[in-house]
Amino acid sequence: MIPLDVSALQDDALPWHITVLDEVSSTSDWLKQNAADLPVGTVVFTESQTAGRGRRDNRWIAPRGRDLMFSLLLKPAAPLESWPRITTLAALAICKAIEAELPLQPRIKWPNDVYLSDRKVSGLLAETVSTRDGMLIILGIGLNVNARDFPPEIHATSLLRELASPVVSELDRNTLAHRLLSSLHTEFARIEDDFPAAIAEVRERSWLSGRQIRCRAEGRELHGRVLDLNEEGHLMLALPDGGSLTLTSAEEIRDVRM
Ligand code: BTN
Repeated sequence: MIPLDVSALQDDALPWHITVLDEVSSTSDWLKQNAADLPVGTVVFTESQTAGRGRRDNRWIAPRGRDLMFSLLLKPAAPLESWPRITTLAALAICKAIEAELPLQPRIKWPNDVYLSDRKVSGLLAETVSTRDGMLIILGIGLNVNARDFPPEIHATSLLRELASPVVSELDRNTLAHRLLSSLHTEFARIEDDFPAAIAEVRERSWLSGRQIRCRAEGRELHGRVLDLNEEGHLMLALPDGGSLTLTSAEEIRDVRM
């Protein structure tokens, strides 16, 4: 296995300060504990997490040394009300990095996942922390790169599996991670004026559009057909009674009809 190598990841043309840990409970928890002493732009990668976390109290489990697990400490240069856009931009950045490196067509499963062939390949976890210097975002990213086996019930895949190449047995995580860091920097710069154009690119990659979903919103269970994303990146649904509904990322999708 090719280990993660800080010298391959650090790039002085990018605003990131890279740390690589051999093992940690969770890169996001590590950043949370150390945020007060670290500069904005710190990115921590790890080879292994013992308590990786996903959204809604899910665990994030990945084999040692095969995938990418990292968290970024961010202070977006935009008003607080625009900060939720960071997740949308990060999902777009992940898609573009994969597209640039590999002959694959990733899709964004709104709001926090990236899919390949109808299976999850990457997940995002955005959290805020309050420090002496004000509010910051900790953005955790898990990307399945070289993992080969997944329990069927979790419906996941990896870049290597999707590549299905008879000659490639391992993808270089350093190359991918460097591309991701560059892509994240580029997309985050679109948080204000260029956000409408970014949303247009997200729409082109929307995995949910046209699908029937079941969700929890307005305190009840609803189902409907996904129409589109609005200009803020929220999900617009057509309801069976002819009405419509817009979901923010605070709402929960329960089920997608495949
Ligand atoms: C999800 O799909 O629910 C989000 C998964 C986020 C996983 C990443 S792995 C790196 C960082 N550390 C964590 O504990 N979680 C995030």
